[in-house]
Amino acid sequence: MIAKRVSCVVGARPNFMKVAPVYLALQRRGVDVRLVHTGQHYDAKMSTIFFDDLGMPRPDAFLGVGSGSHAEQTAKIMVLFEQECLTWRPDLVLVAGDVNSTIACALVASKLGIAVGHIEAGLRSRDWAMPEEINRILTDHASDLLLTPSPDADENLAAEGFEPWRIHFVGNCMIDSLRTHQQRAVSLQPWREFGLEPKQYAVATLHRPSNVDEPAQLARLVQSLGQVGAQLPVLFPVHPRTAARIAEAGLQVPSSVRLVEPMGYLQFLGMMAEAAVVATDSGGIQEETTALGVPCLTLRANTERPVTIAQGSNVLLGTDPALLAPAVAEVLAGRGKRGLVPDRWDGKASERIADLVTGGFRTLLEASVA
Ligand code: UD1
Repeated sequence: MIAKRVSCVVGARPNFMKVAPVYLALQRRGVDVRLVHTGQHYDAKMSTIFFDDLGMPRPDAFLGVGSGSHAEQTAKIMVLFEQECLTWRPDLVLVAGDVNSTIACALVASKLGIAVGHIEAGLRSRDWAMPEEINRILTDHASDLLLTPSPDADENLAAEGFEPWRIHFVGNCMIDSLRTHQQRAVSLQPWREFGLEPKQYAVATLHRPSNVDEPAQLARLVQSLGQVGAQLPVLFPVHPRTAARIAEAGLQVPSSVRLVEPMGYLQFLGMMAEAAVVATDSGGIQEETTALGVPCLTLRANTERPVTIAQGSNVLLGTDPALLAPAVAEVLAGRGKRGLVPDRWDGKASERIADLVTGGFRTLLEASVA
């Protein structure tokens, strides 16, 4: 089929920078494209600012689902997105990444007989305790177009028995956004607002339930950030989940660690680009630091993005916070990893997706009646 009406779904913060370049590429090709925001993230700093920073128009539809348990949130998105699809009748729905909005909308569309494309298909952490792993595996199964960012994703899908015609190695859409905005983000010199100098500070982010929902682990992490702070200033933009857990646990954060509100896309990109080192448990930041050649220390037991370790600037530290300060000392001694930029992280992934959407692709429905 050739898709003429395409719904692009965004829901949570990591979706915006993946979907924006695809939406804009489709629009440039004259596709009738509709931006649907589920409202999974709704704070100005978790959502609205990204539309401005990424040059995306306001959503055509805002479902306003908000927070809730996984079942509540997923179910609410499904009910409202079904109505949205029945009204606007897209012939392709594009979802991105691994958040609850991704699986909810993929499931709705596939049951309505609408083709589904999954941006960032095929990634696997092999950690079934992560809600994101469940989301990404189930979304892949509901998708006609498996749009992969790296060859390991193609290998995962092939090993799981996905038909080769569904798998399309397009590259990394998030890096399309990064390359478009990198120069401007750095020229804004966001570090000045915090009295910092380029290459002389660390950036930290933490929000994974496995790190922040367990008070003892969170306390150890905060303590280890303090040890990093003894080496160089640490800027820590705090996700709402993490802010709530720090407050609940009554944790005192050492003064060398500067806690700030979540940052917009441009401000955070500028900070990351000129950081000496980044410590994180995010998925996307492992990739962005690899594209920027900035050493990244990942505080997780596993990663669904192994190309950032095999080729990029990422080191998987594990979950013991005591490992962080010595690893930062290594980086500051000049032994940080800089790595290489992986294949097809070249700013053109969205154009490859637009080629597929407008050039024609096979769907599961077509294949099943054939
Ligand atoms: C979600 C994604 C995660 C992604 C992260 C990025 C799932 C399962 N998880 O996790 O993969 O890395 O987004 O941020 O989809 N909250 C606010 N304001 C908001 C949004 C959330 O205050 O705009 C608070 C609420 O208290 C909410 C909590 O943060 O309960 C968690 O939000 P939720 O959307 O459930 O998941 P995230 O932890 O953000």
